[in-house]
Amino acid sequence: MNIARLARLGYAALTRDPHPPPCVLGAEDALSSLRSALPAGFLLGTATASHQIEGGLDNDWTDWERGAHPGGEPHIKDRAVSGAACDSWSRIDEDIGLMRRLGANAYRFSVEWSRLEPTEGAWNEDAADRYLAWANALRAAGIEPMVTIHHFTLPRWVATQGGWMNDRTIELLAAFARRVAKKLGSAVDLWCTINEPSVVAALSYVKGIFPPGLEDPRIAAHVMARMLKAHARMTEAIREVDTTDADGDGRATRIGIAHHVRIFQPATRSPLDRLVAGLTDRFFNEAVASAPFTGRIELAIPGVVEVDEAVPGLLGSFDYMGINYYTRDHVKADLRDPALSKQFVPADRPVNDLGWEIYPEGLYQVLKRYGALGLPVYVTENGIPDKSGDVRPSFLRSHFEALVRAAREGVDVRGYFHWSLLDNFEWAEGYEPRFGLFRVDFDSPDKRRSPTPAVETFQEIARGLGLEPEAG
Ligand code: BGC
Repeated sequence: MNIARLARLGYAALTRDPHPPPCVLGAEDALSSLRSALPAGFLLGTATASHQIEGGLDNDWTDWERGAHPGGEPHIKDRAVSGAACDSWSRIDEDIGLMRRLGANAYRFSVEWSRLEPTEGAWNEDAADRYLAWANALRAAGIEPMVTIHHFTLPRWVATQGGWMNDRTIELLAAFARRVAKKLGSAVDLWCTINEPSVVAALSYVKGIFPPGLEDPRIAAHVMARMLKAHARMTEAIREVDTTDADGDGRATRIGIAHHVRIFQPATRSPLDRLVAGLTDRFFNEAVASAPFTGRIELAIPGVVEVDEAVPGLLGSFDYMGINYYTRDHVKADLRDPALSKQFVPADRPVNDLGWEIYPEGLYQVLKRYGALGLPVYVTENGIPDKSGDVRPSFLRSHFEALVRAAREGVDVRGYFHWSLLDNFEWAEGYEPRFGLFRVDFDSPDKRRSPTPAVETFQEIARGLGLEPEAG
């Protein structure tokens, strides 16, 4: 990286706090007049991903689940394997029943590439029919489907060709998106091409805790660039083949990415902490969010890697900004670390079961920040691992209040998807974290679902929006 550019990045990071100041929450009963605060047709739903709930899969993650890190530590906590998961592949009717009970009018789920295209060029029409039947059944139940095409997993045949380290994956995924959109387009308008490019880059290629387990920021930057290129190609393909307006709003498609946004809070006022927090923010948050406006991929880790490239089709490739928001990180510079910092939560802050800070004000901050870019926003994920089930009601309430506050201040926020409908396979953390509004008994043969206390909170929000939860 040249000195002038570094100085520019550094100067921007030092002089501008990218996050607007937090709001004071709880000052008013923000849930009382939801219909006046939120747009008509606001989507209230839950989100899941195929590998985490369907069961019976065979892909790069199932391979990873059986392995161990070079030091002998298993890749997955307690040596858990995804296995039968929630068996949602066979239980969608039951799951739709749970959504009706919540009063939800939307559901975000992903289709599994390894199931639909088990070998290169093959196509499992039965599985495709089943996904189409899901989308139709959701629609018939008054639940708008949002379909994610890529949520972390790759078919083995893609992974063995190098996965996201191979440029070919861009075209393979675009071809897959074309087939999916052709098949499901009659029932689906809302598409999410890729879930969390920054998380894939960080966890698979910097921290090495997701497959393929590498720790190389240079590779991570190129992976993220490839994912954005794939998004651009997928968007073109979907727009071309999905010409059916399934929800009657005059548009056949609305396409975006589910972008994981974190608050990177400098741990102190020292210029180095602020510089590193700013650079991390640019890499993790800003590169994806600015891409559809600049048409460029701009990624930089000073002295390590720089990607600055115009990408055909990227400009205008988001119809909405999807935001996955969970937490805030406090950033202490450590230039020996591959991530240039150590991230932590101060001892006096509330945390969830995985030790992540509970920071609802952060949702308001990110909505204000990304709402200002001019695209409609969906909160495509927000949730909490909470085994007791007792913390989730206030978590949901406070985060929804933050959303309402941002909407009242003019942010065009069109929907909220809670992560998650069910407890599920939480990647490297296995089955211990419990994210579900409905608890799943993984030991029972029927993967029994039972409500957690936050179901009532969700129903309260649904009623506030004029939706009608069904009796359980
Ligand atoms: C991912 C989900 C995951 C959730 C909770 C998100 O980053 O999209 O797959 O389960 O966070 O960690």
